[in-house]
Formats: sequence, structure tokens, C-alpha cells
Amino acid sequence: MAKREQWGSRIGFLLSAVGSAVGLGNIWRFPYQAYENGGGAFLIPYFIAALTAGIPLVLFEFSLGHRMRAGLPTIFRRLSKRNGYRNWEWIGWFQPLLAIFIAAFYAVILSWVFYYIGLSFTLGWGADSGRFFFKNFLNVSDSPFEFGSVNAVVLALTACVWFISWLIVFRGIKGGVEVAGKIFMPLLALMMVILMFHQVSLPGAAAGLNALFEPDFRRLTDINIWISAYGQVFFSMSLGVGTMITYASYLPKESDVTNNAFLTGLLDTAFSLVSGIMIFATLGAMAAAQGLTVRDVVEGGPALTFVTVPEALSGMPGARIFGPLFFLSLFIAGMTSIISLLEPLTAAMTERLKISRRKSVSVICAAGFLLSILYTFRSGLLTLDIADYFSGNFGMLAGGLCELILVCWVLKPDFLSDHANRISDFKIGSVWKFCVSALTPLVLIVMLSANIAGLFSSSLPNYGGYPAAALFVFGWLMMALLVLLAAVAQKFSAKRTKETLLHIWEEFSDGKGGKP
Ligand code: PFF
Repeated sequence: MAKREQWGSRIGFLLSAVGSAVGLGNIWRFPYQAYENGGGAFLIPYFIAALTAGIPLVLFEFSLGHRMRAGLPTIFRRLSKRNGYRNWEWIGWFQPLLAIFIAAFYAVILSWVFYYIGLSFTLGWGADSGRFFFKNFLNVSDSPFEFGSVNAVVLALTACVWFISWLIVFRGIKGGVEVAGKIFMPLLALMMVILMFHQVSLPGAAAGLNALFEPDFRRLTDINIWISAYGQVFFSMSLGVGTMITYASYLPKESDVTNNAFLTGLLDTAFSLVSGIMIFATLGAMAAAQGLTVRDVVEGGPALTFVTVPEALSGMPGARIFGPLFFLSLFIAGMTSIISLLEPLTAAMTERLKISRRKSVSVICAAGFLLSILYTFRSGLLTLDIADYFSGNFGMLAGGLCELILVCWVLKPDFLSDHANRISDFKIGSVWKFCVSALTPLVLIVMLSANIAGLFSSSLPNYGGYPAAALFVFGWLMMALLVLLAAVAQKFSAKRTKETLLHIWEEFSDGKGGKP
């Protein structure tokens, strides 16, 4: 059997893991989550969630990947064997499939970012950035079922995003993913810090920073803020879809996982803070220029990046430099995340179906691109919003919960902490075990229940009021399809690797009617 791929260096692994974590989630999602959840009121739950669930779970996933050193289906199959009776391999397929489902809409958002990089050189969104984004650019339809035509520009740019991702992942871990991490992440950090300092120096920025940092202790009793904070940490640290597990499985035998997990979690949080500061400073400056308060000028939700930021840029000195810098940062951050979303299924297919990495990546990118087309219609923004909501609020949480239940409840997490402690300087013990086997699973159960209840009682928070049928088709049905595919993959790959399939085919073509 071919030797399993490995990272070339520790820093290469770390930068790639941070590259996965830092993405649209930090620059696009974190600021609007913070904004919608009351600014300062959001940071305390966010830090608590990062410390009690985020970092412990990154450590959990790193240890699991490194201990088992295999793709996800194999890992979950082997774990099931330890328990002896039930096969949980399907989790090892569900998570990678979910990752591709996420990559499909992530690629489309990146195509918008791509377009805005070009636009920002001339501030091409004009005087009314909201109208430009929703009408002129995306021409969004009134309902998720009113598909309309495909947006050719979005389609072409989405194809470019998939092509670049394919090119990187195709070249392998050391020659592709690691190189991308090593080049892009230092560059991104530099660009973000420059942007942050520039925005903070603008007149009026302080009011924006106050909105981000002033704590509002009364709002801590609102459970929704806590749910958003844990959800955001989960998405931001790339948990529950197998990325961190797969990346860690390529580490050399003696690698410090605990240290790397802390660094990954802390750097991810640092990036979120830097982009939060940058965006809120921008909002403050814009409000001051218009003589209004921060609350008055802001578009909530995903449009914050594509409507409010462009509008703010238009009235700012140096916009033609800082605009492209902002959208380029967003693009780079997103690219290192999307390539990480492709890795779990690539590893799984290569290993279980015994096909080459190159073939796996090509099939995955082609399928991912086809799925992306769904979001390039006029209804794309709406269907994408539903897909984002379901994958973040159900898929990733359920994926994470299943892995925790299997390892911590059905088995015991001690084999992971023993493993981490054997190879790492910093030792973990009962606090970590409490976080991963009691606190986080309980929080996940509460979140999943609250999210399900929320769906039945009211509409989604963004662009509200989707018809129930749309939630069913683009949300529930998609999730169900992923579970079904995972179950089929489990059945299929358990007995029939490529050799057996070939064998059946040969028998069949020999005229024996396919009955080996
Ligand atoms: N962490 C990424 C972000 O913050 O944008 C999103 C993501 C990447 C989620 C990879 C999951 C994943 F496996």
C-alpha cells in the first residue's frame, strides 16, 4: 500500500490548520454575528465558548486524527470495532460529505468576493451599494423557488474558485495544501493588521470599537446569544466535519498535538478579533461621517460585508487601496478554508475506494461545482442562506455530537488524552475530559433542540420568512440526503472496494451473469 502522506514541517501543519479555521467565518460571519448579538454582549459568551468547547474540541480532533492516522471512515469503523456491535462508519462519511456540501456554497460566496476585488479598484458599486448588491449584481428573486436564470458572472467566477481549489488539493498535502498555507497565511496576517490599523485611525472609529467591546451583562441571560456564540466557534474552528481530524492524521508520529491545538484555537480567535475591530472601526467611521449612530448605518446579516463595507469604503480616504486589500484578504482566507473542506472526502475516497488522490480530487471538485450551480441562480442568495443555516446549525453540530458520543460515551476518551499526553509537553486531564464528554455534548444537545424548536416557531434570522417548503427542500432534504449517502457509502465500502467491483464486472462480462 502507498505510504500515507505527511506534512513537511510542523509550521506547515499549523499554518494549514489555522488556514482552515480562519476564513469567511472570521471576516464575514464573526462581525455580523457580534453585531446582531449586541456587540459587546457577544464577546463574553464567545470567549467562554472558545475556551470550553472550541479549543478542547480542536485538541480532541487533532488527537483522534493523529492517534488513528487514517481517513474518517476507517477511523470510525475501527472505533466501532473497539465497541464491538454497531458500525458507526457512516459518521466518517457523513462529515466529509457535509464538508463538500458546505464547500459548494462557500465557493459561491467566494465568487462574489472575487468579483468585489475587481470592483473595489473603481468603487464600482456606485452610490447605492445595497441596490447594487441585491439588484444589479445578484438580481435576487423573491422566493427560493423562483430560480430565474443563472448569473453568468457568478457561474464563471465560481468555476475559477473550484479550479484553484482543485489545483492546490490535486498537488497533495506537502506539495499543495502546505505550500498554500505557508504562503497565504503570513500574507493574510500582514494584510489584516495593516487594514486594522488603518481603519482604527479613521475619525469616529472609537464609537464603533465601543459598540464591539462595551459589555452588556444583562444580555448574558439571553440563551440565543450563547447559542450563536457556540455555533460561531464551531464553524470558525472547522469542527464537526472531519477537517481537523484529517489534517492531524498526516502529522508525523511524534508531534505535539496539544500545543498545536491551543495555537490553532488562539490564532483563530485572534483573527476574528482583528477583523471584528477592523469592521466595527469602519462602521464607527462611517456613522461619524453621516452624523448617525453605529446602529443606524449598519446592514445586518451577510450583507454587512457586501453592502455596508463597500458603502463605508466609498467615503474613505485610500479606498482604492484598502478596498482591494479587504476583499483580497477575504478571498485568501476563504481559499485556505475551502481546500481544507475538500480534504476529508479526498482522504476517505482515496483510502476506502482505493483510487488515486488525483482521481478523487477531480471527481469531488466536479461534483462540488455542479452543486454550486444551484446557488448561482437568481434565487442563489436565498437558497445559500438556507444551506448555510442548516449546515452550521444542524449538520456540523450533529456531526460533532455523534463523534463525541461515540468516543466519550460509548468508548472512553482516556485513550485520546493518554495519546496526547504521551507526545505533548502540556498535559491535559480531567478539565479537558469534562469539557469534551459532558459540557460540550450537553451544549450541543441544547443547541440542536433549540434550533429545531426555533425553526418550527419562527422563520430564519436572515432575510426572514422563508416558506416552510423551501426550508424542507433546501435544508432538511439536503441533510437527509447526506445521511442517506453516508449510509450507502458505509454499506458499499464495507465489502466492496474497487477490486471486488472489478471482480464482479469481470465475472459479469465473462457471461456468468454477475453472480460471483
Ligand atoms: N472555519 C471556516 C471559516 O471560519 O470560514 C469554515 C470551515 C472551514 C468550516 C473548514 C469547516 C471546515 F471544515
